[in-house]
Amino acid sequence: MNVNLINSKFEEKFSTKGELFTSPGRINLIGEHTDYNGGFVFPGAIDKGMVAAIKLNGTDKVRAYAVDLDDYAEFGLNEEDAPAASWARYIFGVCREIEKRGGKIAGFDTAFSGDVPLGAGMSSSAALESTFANALNELFSLGIDRFELARIGQSTEHNYCGVKCGIMDQFASVFGKAGHLMRLDCRSMEFEYFPFDPEQHGYKLVLLDSVVKHELVGSPYNDRRASCERVAAVLGQEFLRGATMEQLEAIKDKISEEDYMRARYVIGEEQRVLDVCEALKRDDYETVGKRMYETHWGMSKDYEVSCEELDFLATVAEECGVTGSRIMGGGFGGCTINLVKSELYDGFIATAKERFNAKYGHEPKVYNVVISDGARRL
Ligand code: GLA
Repeated sequence: MNVNLINSKFEEKFSTKGELFTSPGRINLIGEHTDYNGGFVFPGAIDKGMVAAIKLNGTDKVRAYAVDLDDYAEFGLNEEDAPAASWARYIFGVCREIEKRGGKIAGFDTAFSGDVPLGAGMSSSAALESTFANALNELFSLGIDRFELARIGQSTEHNYCGVKCGIMDQFASVFGKAGHLMRLDCRSMEFEYFPFDPEQHGYKLVLLDSVVKHELVGSPYNDRRASCERVAAVLGQEFLRGATMEQLEAIKDKISEEDYMRARYVIGEEQRVLDVCEALKRDDYETVGKRMYETHWGMSKDYEVSCEELDFLATVAEECGVTGSRIMGGGFGGCTINLVKSELYDGFIATAKERFNAKYGHEPKVYNVVISDGARRL
């Protein structure tokens, strides 16, 4: 992360120095599309994120400079002041959600930059939201607890960005801890840190980015959520969490074929997260990997959030003997997450690059995963 660049851009724009805050993107080992179903997720924060320099400016306006986009926006803090630029709406949304919760904030200047690849399924937007939620909480001494900071980011997505997301990404970005994954129960909001060091056991965790931009804004993501909610309603439950395959079979003729498939995936995924956590406790990486492939094909065939390129990458991984591989995040593009034995790593990366390039005319990008800390002041 280029902190010097942000400092110098901030000074150039605002002729003063700002204070620095950062929040990370995330990976998710398993537990996809389970968060808004009240289920379990198993994410970790990564060493890529957003950094913002911020300083209160004594006005009632926010002046924001997006370094990477070389774009500037100025906006007020009232509901009618929403900026047009989508990146600025994340910052505006965080301000509004803080105010809706009774937090008093005022104008500030900011310049920010990030190294979470956009649209790669690593939650660049949650990194941005958490950076500002955490920074404003500190700068205005608001005393908001960390769960509420995550919810502020989530509500920003719901109310200002059009994505009815769950809590996983913002939670991971706020609560991340170096060397640990977190199993979060999205119904009770209880969570547990799991030490996670695959290298120690002879494995590497690597992301392959198809560079197909995923776009959660708009209907497909929200449609998946709506399907799950319809099935839960027929089952007489608040969430799909806890439903069994038998219960689903019993109501099959009351729901559409599509909703049935969506629910089948989610119910299977619940069990897979629990299996993976148990397997990790006994260092059983083979089981972890198997469940990852099952998630991939469930997301592809039943949940229908994969794409040809990601199916191709998972297939190549399997053919190379990779322990586990699957689409990561919301889907519709982005990355696969791969658990690969250290001795197979070089061969796998070379083969994946070569075969992907031969088919799609460009190589996938490769990101090695380092599990890192959550939202903080620098
Ligand atoms: C996106 C959402 C999350 C979660 C994942 C899928 O990243 O923001 O809340 O639903 O998709 O697991």
